[in-house]
Amino acid sequence: MRRRAIASVLVLILLATASFAQKKDALDSEGHAWWQHAVFYEIYPRSFADSNNDGIGDLPGITSKLDYLRWLGVDAIWIAPMFPSPEVDWGYDVSDYFNVNPDYGTLADMDKLVATGKQRNIRVLLDFVLTYTSDQNPWFQESRSSRTNPKREWFIWRDGKDASQPEKTPPTNWTSLFGGSAWRFDAATGQWYYHYFYPPQPNLNWRNPEVEKAMFDVTRWWYKRGIAGFRLDAVDVMFVDSQFRDNPVVGTEKNALGDPVEREIYDKNQPELHGVLQRLRKVADENNAVLIGETWTSDIAQLKRYYGEHNDEVQMPMDFMFTTINKLSPPEFRHQIDWIEGSGEWPVWVLSNHDIRRVYDRYGDGQHNDQIAKLMASLYLTLRGTAVMYYGEEIGMEQNDPKRPEDVKDSQGRLGWPKEKGRDGERTPMQWTDSTNAGFSTVAPWLPVDDRYKTYNVESEKKDPESILNYYQKLLTLRHTNPALLEGKYIALNESDPNVLAFVRSYKGENVLVVLNMSSSGQTIKPELTQNAIAAKEGKTLLSSFNAREEMNTNEMTIPPFGAWIGELK
Ligand code: BGC
Repeated sequence: MRRRAIASVLVLILLATASFAQKKDALDSEGHAWWQHAVFYEIYPRSFADSNNDGIGDLPGITSKLDYLRWLGVDAIWIAPMFPSPEVDWGYDVSDYFNVNPDYGTLADMDKLVATGKQRNIRVLLDFVLTYTSDQNPWFQESRSSRTNPKREWFIWRDGKDASQPEKTPPTNWTSLFGGSAWRFDAATGQWYYHYFYPPQPNLNWRNPEVEKAMFDVTRWWYKRGIAGFRLDAVDVMFVDSQFRDNPVVGTEKNALGDPVEREIYDKNQPELHGVLQRLRKVADENNAVLIGETWTSDIAQLKRYYGEHNDEVQMPMDFMFTTINKLSPPEFRHQIDWIEGSGEWPVWVLSNHDIRRVYDRYGDGQHNDQIAKLMASLYLTLRGTAVMYYGEEIGMEQNDPKRPEDVKDSQGRLGWPKEKGRDGERTPMQWTDSTNAGFSTVAPWLPVDDRYKTYNVESEKKDPESILNYYQKLLTLRHTNPALLEGKYIALNESDPNVLAFVRSYKGENVLVVLNMSSSGQTIKPELTQNAIAAKEGKTLLSSFNAREEMNTNEMTIPPFGAWIGELK
């Protein structure tokens, strides 16, 4: 009897979980979906929190920090790949899409993370490495086993260009992002396979409908477990030219890895990828899920394509053009904001991630880094759109590059040392406390903890009202509660000012003014409010990175070096 009762409760729980995945979320009064006002937070699982003290972060570690993330104001986490993997590229080489890397835990741990997140209103997104697999993935193992294997066409196999010496002549001149030819000769079957990244990361053949079906089923399988969506990895290199034409070579110079510089017109951005994204989006829509794109683009037209002509591709293509502005330049930020605002799309802001140097150092001048960290947060977290944070930026974690070649863990750093130190520096353990190893683990972590952890850690910063962490927390609260910051349109002000970036977010008569001094000297500005038909006498400070008065005269404002001021116009 008791057993039956327990069984019925379990069934009910399962049903409730399934309906959580399926249920359509309501749109807000402006027709915005949950993710449009959400703050996303990328977690690099190896480095976030180590629950079993083996020096490696894990899923129970993440679960144990959900209360912290809720306090901070995070609505959704995107976990970088946590699937079983030989770790040639730290998880971006997946050997099994339906499981959890034992270093990180089990499927039960993932279910617990999702369920605990649900209780705290934090959704869990995974990283979908859909362009290539690991060479240890059974699909590729089968594919390489013979030319007639049913999975042969799941990957991209070609004969050598020159039939008289096929093993010496790759099919095209395409180069791998990580150096050398993008083709690897496989002696067993006498053909080359294609890999845009490392040789152990063979590209899938997305022209094969069986691949599409299998990969879409991967997403369905995870949606059923309550996953709220995916970050789509490396979508721009999903397809290569069907005629396998050589890329044009530009000049005679070599790139940092010693390869010719090519115009990547045949190994990147092929039009077919948009068809796949549209169909993948349908599956996501059926599951009320959201897709974030790793969408590297060089202009707004390219970025716009990823949204889809009918908004039917990726809901959240990340605007990486913003991250390429590596200096505090109001004109350049203004231009980038204008671009996306003018496109009519919903912007997706990001400052850094596991492939990009930490924001604290990228913009920091070495003396005012804390102020600059608050300044940059005040920029991208007050703009219209969705923001994707990277773990540790909220405490001012800095770049921590390896000092000796033997310490390098990222193959990119191993290949490029000493010129290219790789990406370990932006992937070091999260700093939780001022105790040993920053409270990440009781044993030496897989990457060294940054030296500054005694001051820059969650516990100490929580106690310091002036800390970067408390600034982020207040900023995220404001972003979630202020109607103008939630829904307001963006109005650029003082557009020729080279030092101060100023704008208003305006919604139904409520106006929030944001003034960001990006220079190292105090600046006085006269915000062009009346010119923009905004009537205001003064501004009530909502948040500022300096000691601002409660009421500020908005006819003329003096902002200290690297100061940020956010206020409500009255
Ligand atoms: C990931 C990188 C990875 C690359 C190749 C990218 O999109 O973000 O971390 O090295 O794919 O695997």
